[in-house]
Amino acid sequence: MNLTPYEQDMLDGKYGSGTALAMRIQVAIGESFDAARMVEITRAHVALSNQEADTWFAEKLLKGGAYCQIPPTVNPGFNLKYFQEISEVSEEDARMMERTHNTYKALGAVMTYDCTPYLGSNVPRQGEIIAFSESSATPFVNSVWGARSNREASQSALCAAITGRVPEYGVLLDENRIADTLVEVEADMKDEFSYQLLGFTGKKIGAGVPVFVGLPPKPSQEALMNLGAQLNTAGAFAIYHIVGVTPEAPTLDAALGGKKPQRTVTITNDDLQEVLQHFTPRTGPIDFALFGCPLLTINQIRTIAEVIKGKKLKVPMYILSNSLTKELAKRMGYYETIREAGGHLVEDTCMDQPPFWYGMRGKVGVTESPKCAYYSERRELTYIVRDLATCVEAAIKGEVK
Ligand code: F3S
Repeated sequence: MNLTPYEQDMLDGKYGSGTALAMRIQVAIGESFDAARMVEITRAHVALSNQEADTWFAEKLLKGGAYCQIPPTVNPGFNLKYFQEISEVSEEDARMMERTHNTYKALGAVMTYDCTPYLGSNVPRQGEIIAFSESSATPFVNSVWGARSNREASQSALCAAITGRVPEYGVLLDENRIADTLVEVEADMKDEFSYQLLGFTGKKIGAGVPVFVGLPPKPSQEALMNLGAQLNTAGAFAIYHIVGVTPEAPTLDAALGGKKPQRTVTITNDDLQEVLQHFTPRTGPIDFALFGCPLLTINQIRTIAEVIKGKKLKVPMYILSNSLTKELAKRMGYYETIREAGGHLVEDTCMDQPPFWYGMRGKVGVTESPKCAYYSERRELTYIVRDLATCVEAAIKGEVK
């Protein structure tokens, strides 16, 4: 790779061993993708996982004197104070959360603990070159905002935040943003939940860059968030286009770069039903409800508050969101409504964290997110997946019909 003198100095250790390690990793990534050079970034988001390997790596960079040139926002871990109040948190888990917090803070990260920074705290403009990890974030910033980020790992995004650069390859280049797969949606896209299911047909859609036709003309931000989150969980999609909706697809021809699609895939109601059946082989009693993978927006919290108002929950309900949205929910009265019904609105917390692994093991939950159900399968948690309003009704009755 061609490095500038400043980049070469970083690589050679002039700015400390932590920065040198970050640059060495980025050069290795660049060389493996035949990148010719580094390009500067203006934003970063690090999907910290609050797990040993991730925190160990961040600590190693910190010990080497690294500091983020571009302060990245970060993903949720778990809200230690909150879970210590309502349940038991092991010393080991508490220590890990503290280590993670202290390390990323010392590296100069902005401690947002939010996997949806693209909706509030870290929103790029069209064309900005950025380094975003997190499966729902990368497709959103590329597809909806028209910014440019490869599917970064938590670690490579942190390296980028430290060096202020990324190797130029993949969807940073015009030619790799052009759609090659035409996805004709014949399914009824009647609500935001339909986009969760559509995203989880990613395996059928296959690899590459999809362009969707046949979708309603004005999908909500939650629908687009759901679509990207599920696509990039069921498959590996950095970017998608929707004709007439996303900025690089004013027409089908523009999205395809004037070429013919290499493949055409049709998605029907049967495909969406197949996804639903995979996660919902049963109905019946549930032990808890959990929503917010990705973290919920104020609109989604309002939906919950409207269904729950004046009622009592039969099973515990955990609603995950970011701290700014929780504050807003307090102002709007939704927080009180949820509390009065017996629900919990929890900030800074990912569903794939120890309080849920241990607290819910062997139990059956209901969720609106196929991603949540998919990740939890390996933790011996069972989720039934339904649309948000049906999930809330299920939590009121204690069962899914
Ligand atoms: Fe967010 Fe955790 Fe789901 S980071 S998208 S709540 S797996």
